[in-house]
Amino acid sequence: MRRGLPDAMCWTRNDHLSAPRVCDSHVATQPDLNGTDQEPEAQSPSASGAVSVSDCLEPLSAVSMFETELLDLTIQTRDHGGDLDRAIQTYGAGPWLDLSTGINARPYPVPNMPNTVWSALPTRSDIKSLEPTAKAAYGTEACVVALAGAQAAIQLIPRLVDSGRACIVGPTYNEHGAALKAQGWTVEMIQNAANGAGADLVTVVNPNNPDGRVWDNATLLELADQVGVLVIDESFIDCTHQPSLATQMDDARDDIIVLRSFGKFYGLAGIRLGFVITGAKTAQRLRELAGPWSVNGPAIAIGHAALRDKAWQTATRDRLEKDAQRLDDLASVHGLRLVGGTPLFRTYNAEDAFKVQAALAKKHMWTRVFPYSQTWIRFGLPGTESDWTRLQNALAFA
Ligand SMILES: Cc1ncc(COP(=O)(O)O)c(C=O)c1O
Repeated sequence: MRRGLPDAMCWTRNDHLSAPRVCDSHVATQPDLNGTDQEPEAQSPSASGAVSVSDCLEPLSAVSMFETELLDLTIQTRDHGGDLDRAIQTYGAGPWLDLSTGINARPYPVPNMPNTVWSALPTRSDIKSLEPTAKAAYGTEACVVALAGAQAAIQLIPRLVDSGRACIVGPTYNEHGAALKAQGWTVEMIQNAANGAGADLVTVVNPNNPDGRVWDNATLLELADQVGVLVIDESFIDCTHQPSLATQMDDARDDIIVLRSFGKFYGLAGIRLGFVITGAKTAQRLRELAGPWSVNGPAIAIGHAALRDKAWQTATRDRLEKDAQRLDDLASVHGLRLVGGTPLFRTYNAEDAFKVQAALAKKHMWTRVFPYSQTWIRFGLPGTESDWTRLQNALAFA
């Protein structure tokens, strides 16, 4: 492992409404979760488009916990958006509008499919046929493995190598930590990916959920040389203009594992499809661990159509950017300040996020709050005009 990774990954709001703004190493560093770091001085945006902490992001002082406590909490609760059962249990049944996830509310139109995709077991070659389609769509020379969602990969990765010390850049999607811990890994939460140097495995969600932090690929490639395995979860990258690390990988990159979710950008989370992009040996091991029928017939058919449909992808990216700006404008009228996000979800700072969530839930509108923050509340984007109107009306009571 090479030493001396420059501290080039830093804290940025990534609102994706323009080109992604990735911080230069000298612009800002992140405050510690326990608040011991000095806040960097305010600086103007640099020529590279980098922004300082004070310009862009509600710093993690909003997350008022020590790292270990935070990690334990997120792993134990394993709470997620989309838990409408809990909403109904507390606030009753009704015409719920679920804004608690980052799933595109205007899904890819499902094409006509032959009956056999439902009736026949998908063969190995059916599943393998998705790989060149995904390779072309993701612009990579590395190997691709199709699985039942990025989540399926998250469950398998801890079994790829002997368990050791893992670092996760957080707070983030809590399944990474939970899956690693369940397989006997020692898991640490870090705020800056550079601090993961020397670990057996480092996980970075890029762009991050829920705060939209972005890490540049040059920095991640340097980090890869200093860790055993580098896992980059790009589940939300399709809706951005951020370049994927996969475009810089080939089939010898067994030490890097990039995850892509199909369900989020294409709005079809129910079909359970996702991809791993990695080197040939790691790909083969993942296929073995996944076993037969790891992807279902309808997912294969829909995946081929959607991944090739560049016109839909471009139009959807443009539409999501505009809708994200619309949500930011609406939120700011109601006193919610942007923390960060991607065009599929926006995380805001509220005086009391739990109170805002409860007020909206009384109007049968479900949002996402986080066990580690009293102030962060995350919204997915409404899909229809009537949903936008409902949200606007409900916010007036929040
Ligand atoms: C960062 C991140 N990775 C992975 C997943 C799981 O994605 P999938 O639906 O493709 O399994 C989620 C789901 O919310 C997520 O937020």
